Amino acid sequence: MRLLQADYFCSLMPTILAIESSCDDTSAAVLKDGVVRSNLVANQEVHKKYGGVVPELASRAHLQHIVPVVAVALQEAGLSLADVDAVAFTQSPGLIGSLHVGASFAKGLAQAMNKKLIAVHHMQAHVLAHFIEDPKPAFPFLCLTVSGGHTQLVLVHEPLRMEIIGQTLDDAAGEAFDKTAKMLGLPYPGGPLIDKNAQAGNPERFSFPLSQVPGFDFSFSGIKTSILQFLDKQTRLDKEFVVHNLADICASVQHTIIRMLMQKLEQAAIATGVHHIGIAGGVSANSGLRQAVTSLAKRQGWQAYIPRFAYCTDNAAMIGMAAHFKYLEQDFASLDSIPMARSEWV
Ligand code: KG4
Ligand code: ZN
Repeated sequence: MRLLQADYFCSLMPTILAIESSCDDTSAAVLKDGVVRSNLVANQEVHKKYGGVVPELASRAHLQHIVPVVAVALQEAGLSLADVDAVAFTQSPGLIGSLHVGASFAKGLAQAMNKKLIAVHHMQAHVLAHFIEDPKPAFPFLCLTVSGGHTQLVLVHEPLRMEIIGQTLDDAAGEAFDKTAKMLGLPYPGGPLIDKNAQAGNPERFSFPLSQVPGFDFSFSGIKTSILQFLDKQTRLDKEFVVHNLADICASVQHTIIRMLMQKLEQAAIATGVHHIGIAGGVSANSGLRQAVTSLAKRQGWQAYIPRFAYCTDNAAMIGMAAHFKYLEQDFASLDSIPMARSEWV
């Protein structure tokens, strides 16, 4: 039986050790009574020279990081394994080798220490990052979830009852940022660097076509191709074009991506009548997108929710938050639950 909304925040008060290892960040967090007591993230520098995440290297780095990251997370929380009620892990989606490291570690710990086990969906956790701190969104809540691999418009009815009402038909918004950065010779991950360079640039200087996709779906493959063709043409005329115009190129590309995202978010909020809106996922760390969501809400008289930076990009605190809600519903995983590279909600 589902708990009433108010009960989510005041019934059982579990202590959860959460582990996130879906891509290239090894993260562990401890939540007590739904409050984050620690949240550690170990980034993997090894991928920088390859211009993207190398799956096999990511799995190996997770193996090296996971024990110290979990130990420090417990230490910073001032708790020991004996205090933990449940161990949570990211089950899906992600790089399969990376997911296996976190899942195997969590399962081993749960079995050895006789703890509950909770399997979490990474994209659902990005949305639930909104419930880590105040102000928490009221339901229903419309969340634009934008990460390296996903772009989704999610209608959230309750913490664990959400539906995807729109998504990308091809590339994710984060991928558009990262691929553009690569074309500009910027290192991986390029999103934050485009954001940084864009701040000194003119967003109206260059224009790129907006994709025309019906409904609430998105498409970002077209903009990638048009940027490639644009850079190709310009650098044939002037070899130093990118160096001399980096800020304006970044500002113009960022502006275009944000317009495509905002257009759909606004349309969906009007069509559904849901005026509590928010953004989540790595791309929600983008300063232009944060500003755009705030302005839209102000213009329309809506309520905007934006998690702080540490809870936008991959982190175990959001896995812990999702696990907290699952714990309250007594939704536990079995030791034979397996990670999946892709899946709808788990
Ligand atoms: O959610 P996340 O940390 O990992 C995935 O689940 O994919 O998202 C990573 C994505 C990358 O594409 C990265 O370039 C992008 O988030 N990103 C940004 C910014 N910070 C991270 N994109 C634009 N502006 C940023 N400030
Ligand atoms: Zn993510």
